[in-house]
Amino acid sequence: MTIYPIKSICCIGAGYVGGPTMAVIADRCPHIEVTVVDLNEERIAAWNDSDLNQLPVYEPGLDDVVARARGRNLYFSTAVDESIASADMVFISVNTPTKKKGVGAGQASDLRWVEACARQVAQWAKGHTVVVEKSTLPVRTAAAIKAILDTAKSKSDNAEPLSTFSVLSNPEFLAEGTAIRDLEQPDRVLIGGNDKDAIEALATIYSHWVPNRKILRTKLWSSELSKLTANAFLAQRISSINSVAALCEATGADVREVALAIGTDSRIGPKFLDAGPGFGGSCFQKDILNLVYLSRHFGLSEVASYWEQVVELNNWQQNRISALLVQRLFGTVTGKRLAILGFAFKANTNDTRESPAIRISLDLLEEGAQLAIHDPKVASTQIALALGKAPSSSSSEIKGEGSWCFATTVAEALQGADAVLILTEWDEYLTLDWSSLAGLMRAPAWVFDTRSVVNPVEISEAGLIMWRLGEGSD
Ligand code: NAD
Ligand code: UGA
Repeated sequence: MTIYPIKSICCIGAGYVGGPTMAVIADRCPHIEVTVVDLNEERIAAWNDSDLNQLPVYEPGLDDVVARARGRNLYFSTAVDESIASADMVFISVNTPTKKKGVGAGQASDLRWVEACARQVAQWAKGHTVVVEKSTLPVRTAAAIKAILDTAKSKSDNAEPLSTFSVLSNPEFLAEGTAIRDLEQPDRVLIGGNDKDAIEALATIYSHWVPNRKILRTKLWSSELSKLTANAFLAQRISSINSVAALCEATGADVREVALAIGTDSRIGPKFLDAGPGFGGSCFQKDILNLVYLSRHFGLSEVASYWEQVVELNNWQQNRISALLVQRLFGTVTGKRLAILGFAFKANTNDTRESPAIRISLDLLEEGAQLAIHDPKVASTQIALALGKAPSSSSSEIKGEGSWCFATTVAEALQGADAVLILTEWDEYLTLDWSSLAGLMRAPAWVFDTRSVVNPVEISEAGLIMWRLGEGSD
């Protein structure tokens, strides 16, 4: 029995992390009331939509979890203050993007939303509240949060403090597209803190479905740093294999064979060795840049440069793909129709944040290409936002300006195209009938596969010219 029994939870931030994480906690702990709050009314309305296809986050299995818990002990609301006031535990799960201006611009995390949450909790919390950092944060942020929370005491007219707080770090390791599986069967749950009772209160919640040996208890700072480090290590593997992919193309080796050969070494392991168009997603780049900023801040410039290179290689990889495509298409794509298959940063998500498709599409638009973009889960409006450019129905071919349109099917995207560029590994792209699709394209037509999803034999039998990332010729 913990000395802080948790009967109600408030989670601030109903995004990709807050929504699914709280849905799983509510599902597994029917005795706890879980309220997810957000300032964004539209987002909360979507979480409350009776049509589960309208949930703001697309994750396989999320609809079932929400269907079981919503209205029973899982609620989505914009009533932030009231929800904080009635909670025994408050999760902070708001966005922590890279700062755009001021000190640390381009590298440090922008903590304004986290600070706003801490101030709101300080103002509205009652009794003893366990505050949990779920957002990914720079090391020692918990100290800043605690300092803000402790101002709540000074507002009391009585000698007794109005409210007291324990701060924990409980970073989230879920990956988009597999969020529900990752939450239900995590490799580990990490809880950092100084207050053992608060740690046990949170551990008790997870113990309803996570074996105790997988619940790691650490110092606050170790927990905060572990999250940044885990993402840096994962991203580093991708940049490493992408660098080798380029070397494979130059030397006649094949990166899939190299990945298999090194991945069977149990010390290296097979995961995160898929070469591709570069890593995307809202976190890898931001978290590494944060690590770079922290390292420089502590005078460790060699450490900073080491990690910075992982991001630089990733940028280079994206630019390399667009440049290579232009070069293969006789040095120009001006006025040429190019089909882009996949705009999400990975399969099984509708998230396009930092997707390699953005930079690559922008490069090709700059070259004057006419892009026809298909993605099974990303809407045209979202692509327009990401590219900062509305879709065009009229042809800008004459002026030589790049333009893009949304294609609702793969066949529509390929109609009249000179090349197909596959950027996301959606299942649907694994089983395309190239023998019939080839006829829709303008010869000589190319398939550029950056995700190793198509069968090269089928492509050549369909009369198309194939380029595969990381495959060199003899
Ligand atoms: P998100 O942008 O999808 O959601 C954040 C939400 O917080 C938004 O809906 C925003 O309106 C809300 N918000 C901001 N300030 C608020 C306030 N003061 N009051 C109420 N609501 C507020 O972000 P996300 O992808 O869920 O990421 C959240 C955190 O989790 C980040 O630190 C991120 O690094 C980390 N993380 C993300 C992932 C992922 O897969 N996306 C995985 C692990 C960790
Ligand atoms: C990543 C981590 O995997 C999570 O553990 C972490 O919680 C999360 O970041 C976060 O902090 O936000 P996510 O970005 O959702 O999760 O997805 P990943 O599966 O890690 O993929 C990231 C990018 O790397 C994608 O663009 C993906 O296509 C690419 N990738 C991944 C490769 O190019 N090759 C690989 O072998 C693996």
